[in-house]
Amino acid sequence: MASVSAHPDVMEKLVSLAKRRGFIFQSSEIYGGTGSVWDYGPLGVELKKNVKDRWWHAMVRARDDIEGLDAAILMHPRVWEASGHVAGFTDPLIDCRNCKRRFRADDPAIKGTPGTPDAQCPVCGSKGTLSEPRLFNLMFKTFMGPVEESAAIVYLRPETAQGIFVNFLNVQQSTRQKIPFGIAQIGKAFRNEITPGNFIFRTREFEQMEMQFFVEPGTDEEHFEYWKAQRMEWHRSLGLAPDRLRYKPHEQLAHYARAAADIEFDFGGSLGYQEIEGIHNRSDFDLGRHQEYSGKKLEYFDQPKNRRYIPYVIETSVGADRTTLALLVNAYREEEVPGETEGRTVLGFAPSIAPIKAGVFPLVKKDGMPEMAENVANDLRRAFPIFYDDGGAIGRRYRRQDEVGTPFGITIDGQSTQDGTVTVRDRDTLQQVRVAADQLRGYIAERIAPNE
Ligand code: GAP
Repeated sequence: MASVSAHPDVMEKLVSLAKRRGFIFQSSEIYGGTGSVWDYGPLGVELKKNVKDRWWHAMVRARDDIEGLDAAILMHPRVWEASGHVAGFTDPLIDCRNCKRRFRADDPAIKGTPGTPDAQCPVCGSKGTLSEPRLFNLMFKTFMGPVEESAAIVYLRPETAQGIFVNFLNVQQSTRQKIPFGIAQIGKAFRNEITPGNFIFRTREFEQMEMQFFVEPGTDEEHFEYWKAQRMEWHRSLGLAPDRLRYKPHEQLAHYARAAADIEFDFGGSLGYQEIEGIHNRSDFDLGRHQEYSGKKLEYFDQPKNRRYIPYVIETSVGADRTTLALLVNAYREEEVPGETEGRTVLGFAPSIAPIKAGVFPLVKKDGMPEMAENVANDLRRAFPIFYDDGGAIGRRYRRQDEVGTPFGITIDGQSTQDGTVTVRDRDTLQQVRVAADQLRGYIAERIAPNE
């Protein structure tokens, strides 16, 4: 666990705001909830979609050397033998025979040596009830076929990467890409985590955005450095504060890795700096193993060099949910408003990331203002997500949008119906400018364009 951060712990406030305003709900809440599984509400789904769209744009659309893929979650069971997950994707686990709780063996709260009489359960306090550590595989198993007993065991994928490896030649041959090139995909992954928690930080069902860049052996180190820098730049481009982001090289390497570094974000409080993305030099481990287990050649033929080889892979692997959480934490602030007694809560998202781009408000419900406001709203809605609100005092309507991070507040007032202009309020500076209603779309579009 990281040391306590200089940034405040806003997690509890965020969980409450996220539920109240429709970002994120606990899964199956009316049944008491499902442990560490979350549902994205109307605003959450827009926010996470913006994250995924920005990733897809940066990694696939804006490049000619990366192709997209959407592989299935269910794969041949041999995939997970070849990848090493059946044998090695495990955490050592300890059970308390008294209170039935489970702990990871490296849980610092455990006192003594589990399996011996002196060991003490950190929850119920009983002595001698902790089992010896045993390995627990994190993959979810299910059955393929109508009759459970005779059906094949298949796994819910614990990472999206293997779908890319097994399609390496399909993609390379169908697109005629030459090395170096990459394959990118976004998709669900599942891990039966022993110690999930911290809201959507570590969950059992989550989305990954992974890219495998296939390179000639010997050039892998330079590509690794390149991708480390690119990925850090991407996180900054979303508006994550540069002084809350850092690299963390791995001291202990996974079985497949030649080099690895995390990009960490400072989540504040006792959570502090934690991984949001991993960049790994996976060598030829994965393609080599799939070649061995499938019996199919997964080599690349470099025509100009007249050389055949199994490419090395530089992987970038980032969680869509964890990035969404980082954006929420990064954006949350409470502040005083000059000249007002009540403070306000703001989610200061970069406009390109904000789930709603503008609130549209008729100042009062008369004198042609609602009609004009509806026309403005209908016109803007064709271009981006907006929210129409004619309920309550205008100050309160502004506050409601500040709290969900809407960058612009558009008010149709008495002057609007006379001269066709509206006021546009900036969420952060609180400044208001008058803009002609027929220029609004361009005005907002210019200001919500991503910072690339
Ligand atoms: N293919 C490599 C791989 O899966 P990882 O470090 O295990 O690497 C990559 O995962 C990213 O996926 C993490 O940096 C994190 O953002 C996200 N991730 C992993 N496990 C997660 C979980 N249980 N809940 C939410 N996100 C998770």
